[in-house]
Amino acid sequence: MDKISIIGSGRVGEAAAHLLAQKSLAKEVMLIDVRPGIAEGVALDIQECAPLFGFDTRLRGSTELIDIADSDVVVITAGKPRQPGMSRMDVLGENNKILLAIAKGIKQFAPNAIVIVVSNPVDILTYQLWRHTGFDKQRVIGQAGVLDAARMASFVALETGFSVQDINTMVLGGHGDAMVPMTRYTCINGIPIAHFLDEEVIEKIVKRTREGGAEILALKQTSSAYDAPGAAIVEMIEAIHYDRKRLLPCVALLDGEYGHKDIAAGVPVVLGANGAEKIVELDLEPTEAQALDKSLSQLREDLATLAENN
Ligand code: 2OP
Repeated sequence: MDKISIIGSGRVGEAAAHLLAQKSLAKEVMLIDVRPGIAEGVALDIQECAPLFGFDTRLRGSTELIDIADSDVVVITAGKPRQPGMSRMDVLGENNKILLAIAKGIKQFAPNAIVIVVSNPVDILTYQLWRHTGFDKQRVIGQAGVLDAARMASFVALETGFSVQDINTMVLGGHGDAMVPMTRYTCINGIPIAHFLDEEVIEKIVKRTREGGAEILALKQTSSAYDAPGAAIVEMIEAIHYDRKRLLPCVALLDGEYGHKDIAAGVPVVLGANGAEKIVELDLEPTEAQALDKSLSQLREDLATLAENN
């Protein structure tokens, strides 16, 4: 890839930029931030790691959206972060305004890019980005499921003692308290997790996954998670860069899949050079389908609230 831009040079943007450079996934990583000097400083700090890690990626920082021009991928991490006790919805109004300005810039300066939305509430903002750019839905994806599934896999590893290399997890629905960690599809090298853990422990893992972001925020108090979110962004970009056709949970625009349309939510997606190339529909059991519907109803309510207030 020639160029990846990250709009928002807070900790998530910085973590992602650093990993992208270390993995040499682009010739150029452009960091953008409205706060003067921030993106430039972050870019320079990472650039100075190059001799230590041996990467040739060039990093630049700017306050101007025009500098995303000709990007292959644009990542959006800009927005107001949650404070302890706040839900992702509490930052919706403000982050929606920020996102609309960014959508306009992307449409103008990087009309061919694949866009990965990370800012919260990610499902709603992914939908808004798609609506306001008019981009093909394959090219508008949200990052949440890769992070949630990684969190779930980490908790399974901690509970079972097995290597994360053998653990597969899948999380559907919105990136909020109603997300749907799919225990039926959680396996250790193909063996269902129920073979190793009793129901009570599995329920504990599900709850901890749902509350994964809040757990870290409550511990750190002054910052949300950023290492795992940054790594999750890079996992998605790697799949796009190498056209891997990875099957990953991502926020995608639904057009009838899972019985829903005109909404974006976490579903299994085939991720390759063209973005979200296909949404994979699973045969859900009634309780799973109900949980997914509940999560999506919550997202619809949030979208309606947004429409009322704007
Ligand atoms: C998280 O789950 C902040 O949504 C982000 O950590």
